[in-house]
Amino acid sequence: MCGIIGITNKKCNVVDKLIIGLQRLEYRGYDSVGIAVINGDSINFKKGAGDLDTVMKRLSFTDLSGSTGIAHTRWATHGGVNDINAHPHMDCTGDIAVVHNGVIRNFASLKLELESKGHKIKSETDTELFAHLLEDEEKKSATFIEALAKALARIDGTYSFAILYKKDPDKIYFAKMRSPLIIGVGENIKAIASDLPALLDMTKTVILLEDGEFGYISPTNFEIYKLLPGGGYKKLNLEQITLKVKTVELTPEAASKGGYQHFMIKEIYEQPNAIRETFEGNIEDPALSKAAEIISSSNRIFLTAAGTSYHASLVFSKILAKRAKLFSYPIISSEMSYVSSTFQKDDLLIAVSQSGETYDTLQAIRDAKKNGVKVIAITNVLGSAIVRESDFSLYTRAGPEIGVAATKTFLSQIMLLEMLSAFISHERKELDKNERNKILDYLRYAPNLIQSSLEASDTLIPALLNLHKKNSSYILGRGLGVAIAMEGALKIKEITYLHAESYPAGESKHGPIALVEKDFPVYIVSTSDAPEIAGNAIEMAARNAKVIVVKPADLKLELKEDRKSIYFADMPPSNSIIELEPFILTPLFQLLSYRLAVERGYNPDKPRNLAKTVTVE
Ligand code: AGP
Ligand code: GLU
Repeated sequence: MCGIIGITNKKCNVVDKLIIGLQRLEYRGYDSVGIAVINGDSINFKKGAGDLDTVMKRLSFTDLSGSTGIAHTRWATHGGVNDINAHPHMDCTGDIAVVHNGVIRNFASLKLELESKGHKIKSETDTELFAHLLEDEEKKSATFIEALAKALARIDGTYSFAILYKKDPDKIYFAKMRSPLIIGVGENIKAIASDLPALLDMTKTVILLEDGEFGYISPTNFEIYKLLPGGGYKKLNLEQITLKVKTVELTPEAASKGGYQHFMIKEIYEQPNAIRETFEGNIEDPALSKAAEIISSSNRIFLTAAGTSYHASLVFSKILAKRAKLFSYPIISSEMSYVSSTFQKDDLLIAVSQSGETYDTLQAIRDAKKNGVKVIAITNVLGSAIVRESDFSLYTRAGPEIGVAATKTFLSQIMLLEMLSAFISHERKELDKNERNKILDYLRYAPNLIQSSLEASDTLIPALLNLHKKNSSYILGRGLGVAIAMEGALKIKEITYLHAESYPAGESKHGPIALVEKDFPVYIVSTSDAPEIAGNAIEMAARNAKVIVVKPADLKLELKEDRKSIYFADMPPSNSIIELEPFILTPLFQLLSYRLAVERGYNPDKPRNLAKTVTVE
């Protein structure tokens, strides 16, 4: 995820404060940086690809000076990683500078329209188009606010914008739609940023902007407007603004937890945004269809990963089988060397690793490369080892994950892999374009489902906490549910230190059910591809287990059992769209493990014996 910071004050040069703001935003992950300030009657800017320290030295950011400025850390979605595509972006006149977090979906049609009007587009990015849109609208508007409202009405996408307009040298204009943006309100200084840590050195008084809000800040004033459905806009009055002002009693370090007690719970609740960023940041990327072509033209598909990433690859394997009629071999990274002698020339390996640094997964990649096998990496970290050692990379955009237990990166991996599966299914002609796009439209809705699932889980969990007084539990699934069950069991083990075991429910009668006795907790993860799991629930209830059926609310199961011995944890409905069911069913186990760990007095962010990234054999 990228970051935005803008600061305006009466007299002081803001460049050093902007650099500190960028440093506070580096944790969000980025590939380029840039800065622009208004000085007298010109906007001066410097920008480049690379990390902040390197670029600011290479381009001497501190040569810039001005009392009003904006800055940006970019994570590319449209256009490669290079100096020209870094932000800020200017209009033709040089009177307007824009930095942006998000994607402009109607990028292609806008570019054609603007170029046909004679605009000279210098970069490959979608963001630059907005600067030219503003230039267009400014000529036809009485105020820049009016121009901004009209330009916003012409884009479809996600954004947080910070904008400099030379004719208003002490103002920073802003706008927000589905990317985070916060105003910092100081005495004679105002700021705008993607996240709290970038503001708290300047003020503890903040306004969390909402979607559709836009306006400006100046050293002694600010105004907020709201886009109206169907066009037009209205100015928020003093009372409405007063209701939005918050005082944040947090240190910047605590703020990086977003006010939550632990990073893990913050990241669990960040999932709707992380998954939305992953969807929006990839849907227009030609790399997705390119990867689909490579996969579809390969002989055999091997998947390799460790831990939670392995569970994501299991979801991918089941969806590929179902949608693309394509068989794949999921192999745990540390087991790959025992089968790598079977690799053949046109095989393909897909390696999944959120850190991109896991030793076992890197070794599996090296084994594959030694056998002439092409490798595609799925990772959350730009420039990580897995990217350097693979032939092709796709990126989740979950933002850095601090908690040792993977949460938002897991569902982000599933989002990206399910998008990829839809493209592969179309490439293999198992889905036509409309069917593929229908699945993508369902996936666009997944962030809402996660939010609903978190809310449903929050109400259900108190009743489940008591089940875990015993030291062990089963979490069973069938079909797609196996991977979700495995992930749930891993979460409970790794942060509560209670034993939880998962296996395919159909295996119960082949031995494991011997362990079941009265009140033994058994979770049944029920997905619409495997309703026959109802039989396993009944088997367990018949042995007086405490059975908890976790399912989409609209999934009908043949459960003749007396309902009092089976507890139903109904999650949001899935309409039997299997791609949506990992997003619906996983949050319960993430929240349950978190609440159990805290109740047991453990720090979920730093579980014993574990490292966030396992870089050793
Ligand atoms: C999951 O909660 C653990 N943190 C661990 O299993 C992790 O998923 C595994 O080490 C793989 O890490 P990677 O995705 O960075 O390769
Ligand atoms: N879509 C813009 C670009 O590719 C902004 C990406 C971001 O959020 O950093 O430059």
